[in-house]
Amino acid sequence: MYLDSQGDNRLEIILIDDSKDTSQAFGHQIMSLSELIGMELKSFPFTIAISDPSARKEKSVQLTKIGGKPVSLISNEATIYSDVKYGEGLIVMPGARISANVVLGSYVHVNFNSYIAHDVIVSDFVTFSPGVNCGGGVSIGREAFIGMGATIIQSTFSRIVDIGDKSVVGMGANVIKSVDAGKVVIGNPAREYLKD
Ligand SMILES: CC(C)(COP(=O)(O)OP(=O)(O)OC[C@H]1O[C@@H](n2cnc3c(N)ncnc32)[C@H](O)[C@@H]1OP(=O)(O)O)[C@@H](O)C(=O)NCCC(=O)NCCS
Repeated sequence: MYLDSQGDNRLEIILIDDSKDTSQAFGHQIMSLSELIGMELKSFPFTIAISDPSARKEKSVQLTKIGGKPVSLISNEATIYSDVKYGEGLIVMPGARISANVVLGSYVHVNFNSYIAHDVIVSDFVTFSPGVNCGGGVSIGREAFIGMGATIIQSTFSRIVDIGDKSVVGMGANVIKSVDAGKVVIGNPAREYLKD
């Protein structure tokens, strides 16, 4: 989160981490969520770096309840077409490329070097891990997690590709058809992964 501690528009960055084993990182103070709550701030901007979609959702609810206002962080080393629409709390990392007419929901993560082709619709809390390639016209459901280096084939008029809510596309998977909500898929071509 970013805190105007001086009341003069100077911003202080504070990292919130409940599993902290140190009080500083990257030169910034770390505090727990309960310490933040104890500060009784009226309002503060925040962004959430947690890659797990459901944990990110939970934190977004907690932080907005105590006065947090989500902000988006978009690297100036990312390439984003001017007509891309996005919700609040978006993070786009260096090397990401987002093509024309893409819609990104709230709290979406687009990690290093991920590519999202034209006309893709990405719902809230979706995570693109580093190096994902997502073909045009695909829809990605809420809280889906796309693993490192996964590739998702484009939709066509005869084959619509939907990645379901809360599904997981494993690292390196090559997805050539829709994935049902809540399923985990791995491999080439990607198939459902059933844990014993
Ligand atoms: C698919 C995934 C969610 C499964 O997680 P898991 O249930 O903990 O899986 P395990 O590590 O217990 O592996 C179970 C089996 O699946 C295989 N497996 C796991 N992930 C695989 C993948 N992505 N592709 C192919 N096989 C995979 C393992 O080799 C193992 O096989 P075995 O039983 O023959 O030994 C996970 O491996 C994955 O790909 N996560 C994404 C990671 C990622 O991209 N993180 C972002 C970091 S920035």
